[in-house]
Amino acid sequence: MPDQPRRVAVTGAAGRLGRAVTADLAAHGYDVLSLDRVRPAEVVGQFLEVDLTSYGEVVEALAGVDEHRPADAVVHLAAIPAPGLRTNAVTFANNARSSYDVYAAARAVGIRDIVWASSETVLGLPFDTPPPYVPVDEEYAPRPESTYSLVKVLEEEMARQLCRWDPGLKMVGLRFSNVMHVEDYAQFPAFDADPLLRKWNLWGYVDARDGAQAVRLALEHPARGADVFVVANADTVMSRSSASLVAEVFPGVEVRGDLGEHETLLSIAKARRVLGYEPRHSWRDHV
Ligand SMILES: NC(=O)c1ccc[n+]([C@@H]2O[C@H](COP(=O)([O-])OP(=O)(O)OC[C@H]3O[C@@H](n4cnc5c(N)ncnc54)[C@H](O)[C@@H]3O)[C@@H](O)[C@H]2O)c1
Repeated sequence: MPDQPRRVAVTGAAGRLGRAVTADLAAHGYDVLSLDRVRPAEVVGQFLEVDLTSYGEVVEALAGVDEHRPADAVVHLAAIPAPGLRTNAVTFANNARSSYDVYAAARAVGIRDIVWASSETVLGLPFDTPPPYVPVDEEYAPRPESTYSLVKVLEEEMARQLCRWDPGLKMVGLRFSNVMHVEDYAQFPAFDADPLLRKWNLWGYVDARDGAQAVRLALEHPARGADVFVVANADTVMSRSSASLVAEVFPGVEVRGDLGEHETLLSIAKARRVLGYEPRHSWRDHV
């Protein structure tokens, strides 16, 4: 049989990140199976409506249904994407259950490559307790401050244990910063007026196209096992220097290394080093 392109199931395909990820994967030759409980405005590849809190539906979706062939890999983005959108118990029930179902169904049908959306929140957002040092990175224990974030930490732990059970499995968790599309950049210059306005995530962001790049690189990353990476853009949302922001808002917090003028305070050094991630977009090119 001729080689078929790799089929990647993308959950949350209708979402902010999902639409960028599905477009990027399709542009790079992947066969995309878009999964969501909502139909995307523009369907990439094939679409199958799935409620991820129904394990049977997830198994069938990944194993193949009628004209949908089985998936070779999974990108799991679906979630209630922030604290405070729904009640905490609803967020927990939807997000934790969906992730368990996706991870377990993937294993059940023999999928070994799973890339999934963790979150910058596990680094201690909104930083009412100052960060241990900046730029923050993957080296300190998670500090979830909300139920939403707590679920991301539980998912990171679940990934570690599942990979311990099954050393052939790869589960890459991407701790995305605040996802932005080009149309969001018009509001950025207004952030400068108040340094406290975006202090909650250390003035970080990630362009959806760069987030998609990180997903693709994580899919192609050959290592096995569980790992996590902070994924942000190379710069902050501010015109002021990163050093002056830290000095004013987090006096006394250790600054590690030499900070570039607008350098991100959410370190992407590990993603650069291990995945070859390099953000290609900046809000500064659009405003
Ligand atoms: N947007 C951000 O700034 C941000 C930052 C860090 C991490 N994340 C994470 O990235 C991922 C994607 O976020 P987003 O901004 O694209 O969110 P989004 O709300 O735009 O998209 C999420 C999608 O998941 C779907 N979904 C949710 N629960 C589902 C279920 N039970 N069954 C089927 N589909 C379901 C929704 O219908 C929606 O289309 C999430 O895991 C989120 O936690 C987002």
